[in-house]
Amino acid sequence: MSDVKNIVVLGAGLMGNGIAQVSIMAGYNVTMVDVKQEFIDKGMASIEKGIKRLEEKGQLNAADVLSRIKTSLDLATAVKDADIVIEAVVEKMEVKKQVCKTTIDNGPSHIIYASNTSTMDITEIGADCGAPERVSGMHFFNPVPLMRCIEVIRGDNTSEETFQISMDVAKSLPCLRGERYIAPVLKSRPGFIVNRLNAPAGIYGHYIRDLAYEKGIPWEQLDADYAFLKLPMLPCVLSDYVGIDTSYYGALYYSEKLSPDFKPGKVITMMFNEKKLGRKTGQGFYDWSEGRPTPDTSKKAGLVDFDIISAIRMNEGCRLLEEGVVKSYTVIDEANMAGMNTSGPFGRGKDRYKELVKKLEEFVALTGKSYLTPCEMFKSGKFLEMP
Ligand code: 3HC
Repeated sequence: MSDVKNIVVLGAGLMGNGIAQVSIMAGYNVTMVDVKQEFIDKGMASIEKGIKRLEEKGQLNAADVLSRIKTSLDLATAVKDADIVIEAVVEKMEVKKQVCKTTIDNGPSHIIYASNTSTMDITEIGADCGAPERVSGMHFFNPVPLMRCIEVIRGDNTSEETFQISMDVAKSLPCLRGERYIAPVLKSRPGFIVNRLNAPAGIYGHYIRDLAYEKGIPWEQLDADYAFLKLPMLPCVLSDYVGIDTSYYGALYYSEKLSPDFKPGKVITMMFNEKKLGRKTGQGFYDWSEGRPTPDTSKKAGLVDFDIISAIRMNEGCRLLEEGVVKSYTVIDEANMAGMNTSGPFGRGKDRYKELVKKLEEFVALTGKSYLTPCEMFKSGKFLEMP
C-alpha cells in the first residue's frame, strides 16, 4: 500500500462522486472539487445517499465516513496537501491539460495526477504540465461503486513509481458488487482496453441507429433485438445512462485518432445538438424523469446481426494484442466482464474465428467502413497463441 492519504477528486458528476464515495469508504481524506456549487451539492447528495444506504445495511458508520470528505471550488488551493488527484472532468483535451498543469504547479512535489479519461492519451494530457512522470490514467466504469474494473494506464512518460502508486490506490478502493479487478494498461492507446474493444462496435451501433431512425423504428424495438442477451442494461438505456455527450465526444476523439469511420452518427449528433443527453438531462433515447426506463421489448426491429458485432470486437481485441496494449486475450475478456458486466468476445468467438473474419469482410465491402477490415492477428488466428 502506498503512503497516499489525501485525494482530490476533480469533478462531482456521476463518475466523480462515485470515485469520491469509494475513496472515503477506503479511508482516504477526500476533497471533491468542481466549478459550480450546484454541481458539488448534487454530487454530495448522491454520496450521502449511497453512504446512508450502506449504514442502513449495517456496513459502516455514515457520520464517520462522511467526515472524511470536504468540497472546494478552487483546485489550486485544494491540491496544496493532496497526494493524488483523480480527475473526472469533461472529455476535452485542453481542459484536461489545463487542470493537470494546475495540479502539478500548485500541489506538493510528489503529487500524482491520474486522469479518469475514457479515451484520451495519457501521454498527451501530461505533456506540458512540467512533471509528465507523475501523470497516469485511472479509468473507472459507471457506476463506480458497483462496477469492478479500474484500468490503470501507463503513459509514455509515467514513472514506475507513479504507475505502482496508481495501481495501489486503485486496488484499495472497495467495490460493492464483488472484488475489484485492476487491468494494467501497458501502453496509452485511445480507449485503453474495454472502451477500445467496444468502440468499433459503436461504428456498427451508429449505422444501425441511423438505419432504425430512417425506417422510423422506435428505440425500444431496436433495444428489443438485444433482449435475448440478458444484458444488465439495453444499449440505448446504457447510452443514456453514460451520457450521449460522452459517446459523442468519444466518437469524435476516435475519429480524429483512429479513423474517420468512428464519426458520431446522425442520430447521436442530433441528440447532442438538441441537448438530449440521457439520464443527466432527463431525456435521451428515453424519458428519465421517472427514473431508469424499462423499455417494452415485446416487438423486435430485427436489424441487428450479432455475428458482426462479435467479429468487430474480436478484431479490435486482436489489434490491442498487436499494439502491445495488453498481453493476453483473457485479460481483455476479464476486463470487459468487470467493466461492463458482459462477456468479452474471445471466449465464445475464438473457435469460429474464420467464419467471423469472413462475415466482417463482407460487412466492410457493403458499407465501406474500412477501419473494420480484419487485422493480421485476427485473420491468421495468431491471437490463439496469447491466451
Ligand atoms: N452506494 C451504496 N449502495 C448503492 C449505490 C451507492 N452509490 N449504488 C447502488 N447501490 C445499491 C443499491 O441501493 C442496491 O441495493 P439493494 O440491492 O439493497 O437494493 C444495490 O446497490 C444494487 O443496485 P441496483 O439495483 O441499481 O443494481 P442492479 O442490479 O440494477 O445493477 C448495474 C446495476 C450494476 C449498474 C447493472 O445495471 C450493470 O451492470 N449495468 C451496466 C453498466 C455498465 O456497462 N457500465 C459501464 C459503462 S461504460 C463506462 O462507464 C466507461 C466510461 O469510460 C464511460
